[in-house]
Amino acid sequence: METVVSGIRPTGNLHLGNYFGAVKNFLKMQENYNCFFFIADYHSLTTHPHPADLHGNVRQILAEYLAAGLDPEKATIYIQSDLPDVAELTLLMNMNAYLGELERTTSFKDKARKQPENVNAGLLTYPVLMASDIIIHQASKVPVGKDQEQNLEMTRKFANRFNRIYETDYFTIPQPFNFGESLIKIPGLDGSGKMGKSEGNGIFLAEEPASIRKKVMKAVTDSGPTTPDSPVSEPVQNLFTIMEVVSKKEVLDQFKEDYAKCTIRYGDLKKKLAEDIIAFTNPIREKINAIAADDAYLRKVAQMGKEKAHASASKTVKEVREIIGFKPF
Ligand code: TRP
Repeated sequence: METVVSGIRPTGNLHLGNYFGAVKNFLKMQENYNCFFFIADYHSLTTHPHPADLHGNVRQILAEYLAAGLDPEKATIYIQSDLPDVAELTLLMNMNAYLGELERTTSFKDKARKQPENVNAGLLTYPVLMASDIIIHQASKVPVGKDQEQNLEMTRKFANRFNRIYETDYFTIPQPFNFGESLIKIPGLDGSGKMGKSEGNGIFLAEEPASIRKKVMKAVTDSGPTTPDSPVSEPVQNLFTIMEVVSKKEVLDQFKEDYAKCTIRYGDLKKKLAEDIIAFTNPIREKINAIAADDAYLRKVAQMGKEKAHASASKTVKEVREIIGFKPF
């Protein structure tokens, strides 16, 4: 079975965009691949989270992914910092990562611009840690969004370079996992662009119904169609797109027909959309709350993941040490 690795940043709560753009694919992958899904808390240190927040952030995102359907019996779900092996592999891989190529990475340049007061070495070597996350399990496939393509390219470069330097084919060279058509981009509620974490634009899986209703009712629309069969403006199309994933086909078709006939009432569209979103998120929100309150379960999941991930990672580190030339006395 092929191995898949993906890291999840412990920042913010899961929203509908994350669910339909990424989590749904994870759910499919865990059925057919040897999956490692981990929460990238080492990576999150590049932005210096407060110690009082770190564990809570990891815990919440773990509860949310489990509630959304990640299954610890099918996939290995673990916390990155529970796997010190990855820190050792990163140290070893750092020796063959060059300053110039790290400095040229888009994500580094972006971060350096965004946080000029904190351009730490962890930001610079972020791609090396990410490469180590992936190759430590000999992954052949990595599901990544557009923003992570370059980092994955770096992973391939580092793995190839290691193989070349040590004249081996030890590391598997990972490929991006491409979903093609099935990758759905969920737009935000503010008229343009995709759903994000910013206030008002996104609907969170853990969000209370009253808050969802309020946000949807405030979603940007337009002044309404005045001639039959006129093209649909972006803000209205965005509401249709969200409806496509949460509502019945007949419901969407009816509103589209009303639009074409200029009889659509955006208030009705929003009311229905809000109720259909709530029908979708409600069971997940209830699960999130139940799991987040269950310390014993979370501990068990983390422990199980840690053991399985460590078995795979420690084997790699041991073999890499031998290839590099370390020998016990
Ligand atoms: N860099 C990824 C992000 O920002 C998170 C990540 C860390 C990751 N390690 C990874 C993703 C390994 C895939 C594989 O989203």
